[in-house]
Amino acid sequence: MANIIIVGTQWGDEGKGKIVDCLTEKSNVVARFQGGHNAGHTVVIGGDKFILHLIPSGILHKDKMCIIGNGVVVNPEALMSEIMALELRGVRVTKDNLRVSKNAHVIMDYHEDLDGWKEHEMGSKKIGTTGRGIGPCYTDKVARSGIRMHDLDWPEQFKEKHLANIADLIKRYPNNPDIQNLVKTAEATYVKYISLGKQLKDYIDDTDITINEAIKSGKSVLFEGAQGTLLDVDHGTYPYVTSSNATAGGAMTGLGIGPKCIDEVLGVAKAYTTRVGEGPFPSELTGHEGELLREKGAEYGATTGRPRRCGWLDFVVLRHAVRVNGLTGLVITKLDILDGMDKIKVCVGYKYIDQFLKDFPKELPILEGCTPVYEELDGWTGHTTAGVRSYDKLPQKAKDYMQVIGETLGIPIAIVSTGQDRDDIIYS
Ligand code: GDP
Ligand code: IMO
Ligand code: MG
Repeated sequence: MANIIIVGTQWGDEGKGKIVDCLTEKSNVVARFQGGHNAGHTVVIGGDKFILHLIPSGILHKDKMCIIGNGVVVNPEALMSEIMALELRGVRVTKDNLRVSKNAHVIMDYHEDLDGWKEHEMGSKKIGTTGRGIGPCYTDKVARSGIRMHDLDWPEQFKEKHLANIADLIKRYPNNPDIQNLVKTAEATYVKYISLGKQLKDYIDDTDITINEAIKSGKSVLFEGAQGTLLDVDHGTYPYVTSSNATAGGAMTGLGIGPKCIDEVLGVAKAYTTRVGEGPFPSELTGHEGELLREKGAEYGATTGRPRRCGWLDFVVLRHAVRVNGLTGLVITKLDILDGMDKIKVCVGYKYIDQFLKDFPKELPILEGCTPVYEELDGWTGHTTAGVRSYDKLPQKAKDYMQVIGETLGIPIAIVSTGQDRDDIIYS
């Protein structure tokens, strides 16, 4: 199979994990390129549910190589727990099927603490992060003071960097008693991370070499994006975003590959829209309809359990995603959740004062002043899409919905998902 990038087209949780699991069957390598354990990717196989946070969603297949690239931020404790939880369920995770980049940055305990404190200080302006220390870890990376996975194998070098980082934090937060306390816990933290480094040593690898060799030898790679286009630090609803490039470009820098090896870029979109955390969401439904979507779609975060905000499909968002990712095809998930709805709305543009906007505005004050302009389509009441596994068997009105999406965005719909399970899928 071809080399395919899978990205989220909305605000995350589009069903990327399920799609990556399905496409892994025909791939040799599955690679994560950004984000960390803020991600929660769900895979359901014959009723058994797995939620992957750091480990690529291809891990449930035998004889596939999974890679955690340099662009990912790794909490070694979370990674060890994930490995052990999989092993307990009978999934072998060894250096033969999991490699972690030497250059991936390490999430330290104080990154998680900083994440929480910053959110607290921001009060009503908080981002609503997952609290996993993602932003503070990427901040250290860009500030060139971060700790990388291979540092854990160099105790003296690691200690020096660790102590320098703590000294810096203490200077920056003189009035924060928890930060001041970091001096006392510095040694214990050092020992803990060195021990985690030893436990993970076998997995640590020059993943840029491994992945390029695989590509060169004709193996096919799936690139698994985390989060979504509107959470991308450059192309999302800044500052209400995550701290990495969740769009297709992130796959190059986050793994050390060149653009010419990419054959396809598939964008995953829910048949409606959700968002978890704060920030603008023009097609959000705050009343009964939103609650209905949340309950029908079981829209609660796979990582934090937070209720997801729900709304109609938004073509302004999707047009932006098609453009900034260079999408070659779309994957529509959770079509079954719209079963039984009499009318389905799609947001075709935004009204801003007296203007009609078709393109996603970059300025937060404009975005916050936008109201959605809807077109109403017929639902397929009396028919069901749940568990349908061939396009022909979809109700006509559901096919019409797919056609409207494909024609509006000008790209083909490559895959439709009609249920949680691995087998509830239609390939075009
Ligand atoms: P990800 O972060 O993009 O991998 O998505 P999540 O796993 O966070 O959230 C997607 C949720 O929708 C999970 O509970 C999936 O099991 C579920 N899901 C995925 N595709 C479908 C589908 O077609 N129908 C239904 N009903 N659920 C789906
Ligand atoms: P997957 O890969 C949905 C959101 C958080 C918050 C913002 C910043 O499962 O789709 P962070 O902890 O990254 O600094 O939080 O991004 N967020 C996600 N929302 N799905 C995710 O991942 C997310 N990862 C982060 O809710 O709004
Ligand atoms: Mg998720």
